[in-house]
Amino acid sequence: MRVGVLTGGGDCPGLNAVIRAIVRKGEKIYGDNFVGFMDGWKGVIEGVTTPLDVERCRGILPRGGTILGSSRTNPYKVDGGPEKLKQTLERMSIDALIAIGGEDTLGVANKLFDEGVPVVGVPKTIDNDLSGTEVTFGFWTAVQIAVDAIDRLHTTAESHDRVLVCEVMGRHAGWIAAMAGIAGGAAQVLVPEREIDIDRVCEDLARRHQKGRYASIVVVAEGAQPKEGSFVLQSGQKDEFGHVRLGGIGEVLAREIRERTGFDTRVTVLGHVQRGGTPNAYDRVLATRFGVAAIDAAHDQDYGKMVALQANKIVRVPLSEAVEELKTLDPEIMEVAEVFFG
Ligand code: F6P
Repeated sequence: MRVGVLTGGGDCPGLNAVIRAIVRKGEKIYGDNFVGFMDGWKGVIEGVTTPLDVERCRGILPRGGTILGSSRTNPYKVDGGPEKLKQTLERMSIDALIAIGGEDTLGVANKLFDEGVPVVGVPKTIDNDLSGTEVTFGFWTAVQIAVDAIDRLHTTAESHDRVLVCEVMGRHAGWIAAMAGIAGGAAQVLVPEREIDIDRVCEDLARRHQKGRYASIVVVAEGAQPKEGSFVLQSGQKDEFGHVRLGGIGEVLAREIRERTGFDTRVTVLGHVQRGGTPNAYDRVLATRFGVAAIDAAHDQDYGKMVALQANKIVRVPLSEAVEELKTLDPEIMEVAEVFFG
């Protein structure tokens, strides 16, 4: 079988581990050969490829990023995009395509499947907001990076009796914020699923600081929004999937807390640090399991499916279900975080 592989959307620790697993099992067990498409859907539209075999995958298991490059190119926003893409697959005699990506990349895979493209999806996002799978690879690495940062923020916050706001990723879902907040001992966790009630946040902080020197860490997801009319967020540019470029809530929030409470309040934006570097052991194992399962699905010609983790078993779910709606933060997790507020 001749199999195309691509990685799309924001990168994520573990992408190389998935690629390696697909190629290792494909070459060794099935005798496949591979074509690596560069920079997500862009590479398929433009026919830009890179050689992909077991030799090329040596040493990449612990490496962050993706050897295939990534982009947020949406074929349905490119003139003649889907047609060009299908022509490339035909010209290169691709029997199956494995797309590793999040809601946008897999949303495109789902549409292409409906149009007859033999595609299998692998769920990727540090935000952990894809439906159909309990967890996506890269998420726990990102959480650990955030927790390491929060641990460091605690000691400097204590020395100066400050409020330190830590802005983490999470466009539509507060999974990283909530898990990092729980593991890092945050005094507040603010997520996109709940509007920020700035009065309540400041009251909680004031109550906490009445007890004496009591530094506070406030973890805020980049996609968290203020309650209407309470304070204003700047708007950003949009990408090809219509998402606003986020970042800025931490700064605005710190200013509001400072002005309303008088506490010395500073902000740290973790940004892309959360997406870079080596995947942790959990994500390496999950990515490897997903990669092996994806090449198996391609050989079963079980197209239009995404490999997923459910009850610690690898399963296949329809791509249409996976991209239908986002998996937002489990309210039970938020309830746990709230026990430690104030
Ligand atoms: O991949 C998801 C994500 O990490 C979001 O949490 C974040 O909003 C976005 O990507 C940032 O994307 P970019 O790297 O394009 O700025």
